[in-house]
Amino acid sequence: MSLIRLEPPGDKSITHRALVLAALAEGRSELTHALTSLDARSMARALRALGVAVSPLRAGATVAVTGRGLSGLADPRRALHCGNSGTTARLLLGVLAAHPFAVRLTGDASLRRRPMRRVTVPLAAMGARFEELRGDGLPLVVRGGTLRPLDYQMPVASAQVKGALLLAGLAGRVPVGVSEPAPSRDHTERMLAALGVPLVNRPGRAALSPVERLPAFTLRIPGDPSSAAFLMAAALIAGGRGVLLENVGINPTRAGVLAVLQRMGARLEIVPKGTALGEPVGDVIVRPSDLKACRVEAAEVPAVIDEIPVLAVLASRARGTSVFEEVGELRVKESNRLELLARNLRAVGVGAEAQGDSLWVEGSDRPPRGRVETAWDHRLAMAFAVLGAVPGARVRLSEKDSVAVSYPGFFEDLRAVVSRGKTAG
Ligand code: S3P
Repeated sequence: MSLIRLEPPGDKSITHRALVLAALAEGRSELTHALTSLDARSMARALRALGVAVSPLRAGATVAVTGRGLSGLADPRRALHCGNSGTTARLLLGVLAAHPFAVRLTGDASLRRRPMRRVTVPLAAMGARFEELRGDGLPLVVRGGTLRPLDYQMPVASAQVKGALLLAGLAGRVPVGVSEPAPSRDHTERMLAALGVPLVNRPGRAALSPVERLPAFTLRIPGDPSSAAFLMAAALIAGGRGVLLENVGINPTRAGVLAVLQRMGARLEIVPKGTALGEPVGDVIVRPSDLKACRVEAAEVPAVIDEIPVLAVLASRARGTSVFEEVGELRVKESNRLELLARNLRAVGVGAEAQGDSLWVEGSDRPPRGRVETAWDHRLAMAFAVLGAVPGARVRLSEKDSVAVSYPGFFEDLRAVVSRGKTAG
């Protein structure tokens, strides 16, 4: 039987970085297949407030960005609202650390609760100043200026922190080295290297040497493997015919979900197709499969950090008990994903437990039934929508609108994948 063919939306992490790098470049950059979701729009809006010309983010449109040079952003003279987007807030803190004016950053209720000291502490060591208005989180005021070089050992593996520090070095024209306990996604490093910035990028270590200017660029943004993961999961367990996902980012520091799915026994093929600004891209074919339980260990967690919700849902349909170790970072995502995953899985009849920093999920073939509280977290909504598409399931989501944060067309694509099943209501 023929496969359903879909192209997932543009990668969220790469769209954020492409917008920021284009803003710091000299001249006009052009992005195609950029993500147009609420999070990407938060970044575009903030950059416009900083004086950067960014054309509207509309599905199918080329996004044109006129860069202002490495430290040429303008004083916005008002607060920057980062919406739900942690990546917008943290990457911009890095860039603003090198600009000689004060900016107040804020966000929605979820973002205001998320920790920012992980970024502001090392940026303060470089010479930037911060005023917290409500403890460790937003709103806060950043006052940038001339920066000192930094060599920093990050206590947690975080691509947002690493990216912010590299961007501070780039915009402030000072060397920055960052080591991390496990390799996090290396999009910033790959893109900067592809644009000619001298950079060391090896697992667990990134180091940037300063440059005087960054060239404008064109980029077709790869499909988002995190968004694609929901479609892969639906193809595996929700009774469709299988999918061919085109032009998906397959960077191993990001798309660890592919390796975990293969260990779980997924019938999955990866067809590499080339690279875009240093980012590997390929087609991914997924067919309905019987899954076995998985164990995800600490070193692998950063490469699957956004896919734990959907992997936990898949684990609930697999043979045996799965364990996700050292996933405490899930507590400080768009919601407390660790607690909510365990609680929502139990709410639909699955055995699940968050113990310390680990998550345990028991597989079962009983149809999941019950109500799920998404806490307005897009990835929880999409993960449980996939579970709700399993034959016989009756899963009610507290809301569905949050999917617009990263994947506005999600429900339509889910329906296409499970066209012989049903979707959550
Ligand atoms: C991101 C990094 C990850 C991820 C987030 C996007 C990025 O966060 O959870 O959705 O674009 O750098 P951390 O690196 O802070 O874990």
